[in-house]
Amino acid sequence: MDLHYFPSWKVALLLLLVPCGLQCMSVHVLNEEPVHVMPGQQLILRAQIEHGPLEEVSSVTWEREPETGMTHERVTLATCPGRSLKCAGTRPNVHVNMEQRETTLEMNAYEAADGGVYTLTVTDHRGAKTTAQCIVREYEEVHHVSVSINASHSTLVCGEAWGTDPHFSWLHERAAITNSVGRVSKDGTTLLVTKTPICGHFTCMVSNELGHSSATYTAAPCEAEGRGTIAAVVCPIFLLLFGGVLAFLLWRRHRHSNRGERLHEHLDDTI
Ligand SMILES: *[C@@H]1O[C@H](CO)[C@@H](O)[C@H](O)[C@H]1NC(C)=O
Repeated sequence: MDLHYFPSWKVALLLLLVPCGLQCMSVHVLNEEPVHVMPGQQLILRAQIEHGPLEEVSSVTWEREPETGMTHERVTLATCPGRSLKCAGTRPNVHVNMEQRETTLEMNAYEAADGGVYTLTVTDHRGAKTTAQCIVREYEEVHHVSVSINASHSTLVCGEAWGTDPHFSWLHERAAITNSVGRVSKDGTTLLVTKTPICGHFTCMVSNELGHSSATYTAAPCEAEGRGTIAAVVCPIFLLLFGGVLAFLLWRRHRHSNRGERLHEHLDDTI
């Protein structure tokens, strides 16, 4: 058997087994999008680079551009050129690391202006470029909470402006919502009020990792219930007082009539 034949046959088999053949460089960011970063904290982006057996990474570049606005000016944050893929950041708080099939960007002391679309470009040995993008935004506190009523559907709707990852919860008269008051929708933004008529104070509380804010919808006071409790407290007191006065009057009358009798007896004796 020809010895030279064997290796090439092996390579051919390998190429058949690799699903994408020779040209299959792919790049993807591993972070879940969009990435939210708290001001002053660290941003870490990780990306994976896949390539075929005959391909080679010749350079890696991390760039950023604004997510919105007219100017789509890209700034380079770091490049890892050449065979060694030693990375160099363009600013002191950015560090990029390049491993065999993974690259990491670390940015310290993140601030609002660091938000945007981050682009990772990987160039192979023949100069072909493959890119991956990731949106990065500042983690924002809860803003402008409001509650509005949809009277035709007996629902209260809670709104919040632009806080990151808001969580909604409801209170009625400062207590958790019970089945007799209403039902909260799955996402928490809507309260279907089953209590009729709608009365009292409904508070929507919105929170995230940076804090919370709330708004209250005030309906007419819960009258029937109010009167009921007042009656329940006042009636027994009134009955007790009335009973007491009646007992006292009866007792006094009884005493008077006794005294009268004794007086009569006394008079009879002296006569
Ligand atoms: C009330 O809610 C219903 C159902 O969600 C919606 O179709 C309707 O437009 C709402 N009405 C108002 C005034 O928002």
